[in-house]
Amino acid sequence: MGNVVVSPKSKICGQVIPPGDKSISHRAVMFSAFACGKSSFNNFLFSDDCKSTIRAFKQMGVEIETEGNSVTVNGVGFCGLKAPDGVLDVGNSGTTMRLLSGILAGQSFDTVLTGDASLCSRPMKRVVDPLRLMGADISGNGQKHLAPLTIKGKKLRAINFDEELGSAQVKSCVLLAGLFADGKTCVNEKKHSRDHTERMLMKFNAPFEKIGNQLCVSKAVESLTAQSFSIPADISSAAFFIVAGLIMPNSCVEIRNVGLNPTRTGVINVLKRMGADITVSVVEDSFEPVGTITSKSSRLNGVEITGDEIPFFIDELPILMTAAAFAEGVTVISGAEELRVKETDRIASMVDGLSDLGVDIKATDDGAIINGNSDAVLCGNVSVNSFHDHRTAMSIAIAALRADADVTIIDHECVAISYPDFFSDLKRLTE
Ligand code: S3P
Repeated sequence: MGNVVVSPKSKICGQVIPPGDKSISHRAVMFSAFACGKSSFNNFLFSDDCKSTIRAFKQMGVEIETEGNSVTVNGVGFCGLKAPDGVLDVGNSGTTMRLLSGILAGQSFDTVLTGDASLCSRPMKRVVDPLRLMGADISGNGQKHLAPLTIKGKKLRAINFDEELGSAQVKSCVLLAGLFADGKTCVNEKKHSRDHTERMLMKFNAPFEKIGNQLCVSKAVESLTAQSFSIPADISSAAFFIVAGLIMPNSCVEIRNVGLNPTRTGVINVLKRMGADITVSVVEDSFEPVGTITSKSSRLNGVEITGDEIPFFIDELPILMTAAAFAEGVTVISGAEELRVKETDRIASMVDGLSDLGVDIKATDDGAIINGNSDAVLCGNVSVNSFHDHRTAMSIAIAALRADADVTIIDHECVAISYPDFFSDLKRLTE
């Protein structure tokens, strides 16, 4: 693993199109696999995580061709997956493991799903429990149901499931399993989370209905209808440059082709509450809305971040902590205990990294308290650990732009999980 040096800069200016949305890229492969015929999509995110999803489906006999950032999937329908040639290793990708568990539970063959050390320590009980209620036969490692997961394909039955965590991965796992279960499977969303699975179910004409907070699928008897579409850029990746534009003086960043799904734009709402000068223009409002976000140097103020809004920007909390370091006054983040079970414990990694840079930040059980300073100049000449976490590495890199000397980020290559060209885009915009 290598290190990168980020040097202090005076401003950040220009246009950027971040890579394709990670959540949508995973789902595009999965849904296309169950369609009849060829689906194709462009602006696919060729990151380590999404490549894991492609690899897993190829191992189960699905033909997938890639050219540039376009992908063509030759769908096999609902009964067409084949027993894989070996263990399915999905690397660092929690989305692949949790969504695939739902798909695999109802197949006519057995599988073993594994991942890297980080993924094998992340909680899987949240998906194993509802799947078992559906009749799934899944055994995990240890009492906490950790990966590797051994999934013996079974006939599933529908359930009525209350999703309390606000986890799109759990919701999606149950809905995908529901497509293979007898009866009508319903997920009652107690906390709302990103709705890409619901949008995909509708786009591919799957047997799905949404009534208020209840999301229901019926057993799919016919293959899905193949689709062609474009994947918008990931707002979670855009967020690094949105915040950079705000905290750097004399700066303006235009981020184009960004997905503006309302279940993902929570980060913009929070930043606006902090006083951010951000404009958003919707360019296209198809199955996933897309547009341009412009962010300009702003004087930010500390805010309170809590409650039911958290799932709408769970992945942006690390970069919001960076923003809070440069916001005047105190920012209190609470109700974000889910951050502790991401690719790393992101409360610990961000408190560690920002403290190394001299920020006044304290961890709490479910968040952090940041005493920000709009005139802050952070301490350079330090090495900061990414803890192999892509979003920690990128959030620290943005903070380092306002240090008094070079900052080294350890194991920076982890950005390849979601934004392989992050450091070259950052260099270009700050040159
Ligand atoms: C994702 C859902 C979120 C998010 C992850 C991607 C998805 O996880 O953090 O990066 O694609 O469904 P949770 O569902 O665990 O909150």
